[in-house]
Amino acid sequence: MASADFPAVDARTIASVLQLVRGATFDDFLLAPQHSVLERRDPSAIDLSCLLSRHIVLRRPIVSANMDTVTRAPMAIVQAEEGGIGIIDRGFRPGDIRPQVREVEIVKRTQHGVIADPYSIGPDAPLDEAAALMARSRVGTLVVVDDRRKLKGLLTERDLRFAPTSGSRVSDRMTPRDKLVVHPGPLAPVAAERLMMAHKVKKLPLVDEADVLLGLITAKDLMRQTRLPFATRDEQGRLRVGAAIGAKGDYLERAAELIKAGVDVLVIDIAHGHSIVMDRAIAEVRKRFGPVELIAGNVGTSEGTRFLLDRGVNGIKVGIGPGGGCTTRQTTSFGVPQVQALVECRKEASGSRVPLIADGGVRRHGALIAALLFGGDCTMLGSAFAGTTEAPGEVVHKSVLLPESQKTVKVPFKVLRGMASIEAIRDRLDVEDADRVEIEALGAEGTEVSVPAVGSARAIVRDMVKHICSSISYGGAASLGELREMFWRDPMRYLIKLSTSGRRESYDR
Ligand code: XMP
Repeated sequence: MASADFPAVDARTIASVLQLVRGATFDDFLLAPQHSVLERRDPSAIDLSCLLSRHIVLRRPIVSANMDTVTRAPMAIVQAEEGGIGIIDRGFRPGDIRPQVREVEIVKRTQHGVIADPYSIGPDAPLDEAAALMARSRVGTLVVVDDRRKLKGLLTERDLRFAPTSGSRVSDRMTPRDKLVVHPGPLAPVAAERLMMAHKVKKLPLVDEADVLLGLITAKDLMRQTRLPFATRDEQGRLRVGAAIGAKGDYLERAAELIKAGVDVLVIDIAHGHSIVMDRAIAEVRKRFGPVELIAGNVGTSEGTRFLLDRGVNGIKVGIGPGGGCTTRQTTSFGVPQVQALVECRKEASGSRVPLIADGGVRRHGALIAALLFGGDCTMLGSAFAGTTEAPGEVVHKSVLLPESQKTVKVPFKVLRGMASIEAIRDRLDVEDADRVEIEALGAEGTEVSVPAVGSARAIVRDMVKHICSSISYGGAASLGELREMFWRDPMRYLIKLSTSGRRESYDR
């Protein structure tokens, strides 16, 4: 059976593919269909396992981009529940570390086997304080403990409903310890489910022999565990999440706080990752935090990949300029077409066990499999998710003229902005008053675009997964790993370089 690792690629084969893909990107190719071996394209039966970074496996090869119009906690939760992962952006103002940390905390607390450190409050605390803590942390249950962490009761949102909060204390409304079903010591999920069903309870606190709180199991979490079999979880059953830190300013302090909050992987994300700035940033992060899981980027050449491999990163982001909100190529004339970049970087990374994240430029679902075959272990997407309900930002309605009927209709949109756009830079630097020219001098390499509002990211991920499974079927394989092996054994069997009219027939709609 094929593994989650990208197969090692023969040097002569990749050199010949590199000749073919120079200057090319996704729309320059079609893949030739092969004899299909799948009876059904069933996403729950087709293995799409891949690596995000050296020690993190994803069951779905999809990552939401660290952009402030794409990934905050709601997006990261959906991505991890569906088998991918979200990277929380660092688009918060310098020194403003807490808001990013809070997003990571929300994800880590969303879904657990056992919540080892549930939100708690003292019995004598005012009810107002409990209500504020519930609102801030977005949880509906607080465990009531004394100052030695001994269990005293449970307080739920329902206990606060219709109760005058001012003047009352937590102990006035909580369900006290002697009325709770409690389990001494740790408990496996199946046994917990049985116990909770037998007692018809939705919350089960775990305590030690001195009644000190060990954790909390909730029925909602247990149900989610079985409903979401592909979810990306850590060893404790919590959803995984990544966070971007940058390479300058407060990045070390940011990293320290994010690690404390339980972040699974840090991403040093700068536009040009093959740089002196990156060299220093990786060295500092390694010095301070040792073997923390670390992804770095972006690069688009084999030299850039070698540079990051030599510095001991655990994952590499590939993509110079393909992003939907990106103007680097227009403003600098530098960049690498994404398929060429993926093959070049794969050539260098082959056999290293350091995965490549194909970052940007996926504008149709068919490009996903291309990104995953040419060199990406997984794919990172921004524009594809920017119009979803889970993306930050408001829906705006714009008038659109329908060409056929010449009628004007109101269409809902959301905004995607490049992280190096003037708008994003202005927000980060807190310079609302600065004029456009002044900020342009900072070197904007991104732009703001409207993308149609499209509903939940969950539906989009599931659609993407179905299309990847269909690609695997057309490719004559039974899993992503197998298709990669078949492709790289004989790439010319698959690759059709398109003529202008071939491209028009394939992709112009
Ligand atoms: P898509 O095509 O999925 O790409 O929207 C997402 C990726 O685009 C990159 N990105 C930028 N690149 N200037 C750039 O040169 C920018 O302002 C910018 N903002 C985002 C980033 O790699 C992201 O993951």
